[in-house]
Amino acid sequence: MTASPQRIVLAARPHGEPKPSDFRLEDYAMPTPGEGQVLLRTIWLSLDPYMRGRMNDAASYSEPVAIDAVMEGGTVCEVMASNTDAVAKGDIVLAHSGWQTYSVVDGKMLRKIDTSLGPISTAIGILGMPGMTAYTGLLDIGQPKAGETVVVAAASGAVGSAVGQIAMIKGARAVGIAGGKDKCDYVKNELGFAECIDHRDPDFAAKLKAACPDGIDVYFENVGGEVFEAVFPLLNFFARIPVCGLIASYSDTADATPKWAGKMMRTILTKRLAIRGFIVRDFANRRGDFLRDMSQWVKEGKVKYKEFVTEGLDSAPEAFMGLLKGKNFGKQLVRVGPDKV
Ligand SMILES: NC(=O)c1ccc[n+]([C@@H]2O[C@H](COP(=O)([O-])OP(=O)(O)OC[C@H]3O[C@@H](n4cnc5c(N)ncnc54)[C@H](OP(=O)(O)O)[C@@H]3O)[C@@H](O)[C@H]2O)c1
Repeated sequence: MTASPQRIVLAARPHGEPKPSDFRLEDYAMPTPGEGQVLLRTIWLSLDPYMRGRMNDAASYSEPVAIDAVMEGGTVCEVMASNTDAVAKGDIVLAHSGWQTYSVVDGKMLRKIDTSLGPISTAIGILGMPGMTAYTGLLDIGQPKAGETVVVAAASGAVGSAVGQIAMIKGARAVGIAGGKDKCDYVKNELGFAECIDHRDPDFAAKLKAACPDGIDVYFENVGGEVFEAVFPLLNFFARIPVCGLIASYSDTADATPKWAGKMMRTILTKRLAIRGFIVRDFANRRGDFLRDMSQWVKEGKVKYKEFVTEGLDSAPEAFMGLLKGKNFGKQLVRVGPDKV
């Protein structure tokens, strides 16, 4: 007997940091797939910083989640029933079915996961959207050269950890920025970055400068805010800045009047201005290159990854609020259901 499906909807728009009452867990009737549709059972849900933006009723590069609608999110699912030739019952697929245990989606929106490449969770991690963000942002925009210094913050996280490791594969010197000693130790000792500086250290700016004696050639922007202010004076002539994310300011409110640098970087990201902002899907045509290279690097141990898993759909709101505060240590995933039922 299958448990009643459950979903988490956006109950209210947060003002500043999200809080538990902004989310609501609901039961719903098992959906039935129509023509061309597929019934999916969620195995893994990806939690990602961009979801904070979807909770706001503000113009951005994607539509906001409506009040009472299911929270959006990438998922790895099992096909339970299929009314399309594209996928069959039992297939494991990449979907964007959100924070719910079962869903009905158009078969055309799914991608079958090649389970020979790695554990299926990697399809929403190192071999999925975050890994491809690191790959395209760094290689296509950052273009690191041997001997150059590449700096990335949120360096133990899904995107940042891959950025530094790809930079090293290309012969560059990787310097990470992360929150706290454990994360910095991991980035330096396990991932092999030359240095990793704690952004909460009172001497952060001076320590970052000391860690980059030749300046910074590529700054992969993941956080913005005070980290960017410390990086800015260290940038070399012709430095490249892929503007990927600005998590430090995602919960800023209009009345909090963010500093000009934060406002400017947000505009660079969302409008993709020339210090180049980007969104991973801009590089959809690089997917084949990415999967070929990244799966090879992972197999060879040149790129390591860490997953940070919470159990059960009901853990998602707390895990997501934690992600925005740096409580995750690695790619934040929710184990929604078992691999097989
Ligand atoms: N443009 C795109 O297409 C695209 C795609 C994917 C992700 N992104 C962006 O890439 C960035 C990283 O995403 P991710 O999925 O890899 O997340 P993640 O790094 O796994 O998790 C987020 C991390 O951000 C750090 N952080 C939070 N607040 C911070 C602050 N005030 N100052 C400095 N660091 C802070 C925390 O790490 P510490 O504890 O180390 O500070 C936290 O663990 C985000 O900005 C995200 O929006 C963009």
